[in-house]
Amino acid sequence: MSTLIQTDYSKLSKTEKYELFQTAWPNLWDTNLRIESNLCNCYALMRQIFQWWWVGNYWVKGDNLELGVFQGDPACTQIGFGKGVCGNSWEKQKTILVPNVHEFPGHIACSSLSNSEIVVPIFNNSSQVIGVLDIDSKDFNDFNEIDKEQLEIFCSKLAEILS
Ligand code: SME
Repeated sequence: MSTLIQTDYSKLSKTEKYELFQTAWPNLWDTNLRIESNLCNCYALMRQIFQWWWVGNYWVKGDNLELGVFQGDPACTQIGFGKGVCGNSWEKQKTILVPNVHEFPGHIACSSLSNSEIVVPIFNNSSQVIGVLDIDSKDFNDFNEIDKEQLEIFCSKLAEILS
């Protein structure tokens, strides 16, 4: 397993952070480990590089999204179809960027410290949503089109691994 040299990531641009992340996570991925262990490492790496508040995923189970692995404070365990940002992303099958979570109708607040959020759907081979990647930031307006593009790349590679 390769490890990252500790650096002050805050000095890097968003694009530089993604270059680092997209190179680092496949190297961290250990196929001998279960998926959960690898995802924990991926999400820990994201928090380390981007200083996000909460990173994790929910998996589709019946009519709900069920909490998967995450890094951050304890979170709600089930989210209905169309509910909150995660359920909306599932329903619309689209990435949702929320610059200010307090203005998003029906936002589910797992932490009062979260101020912006991005949710990216994870698709299977048949283009069905099987889960979502959810990231919260303490900063307002922390996510933009670069995050959307890069995190969609991450989710599609993740879907390939899972297939
Ligand atoms: N805010 C999400 C709920 C999950 S937590 O942020 C971890 C939502 O509105 O769906």
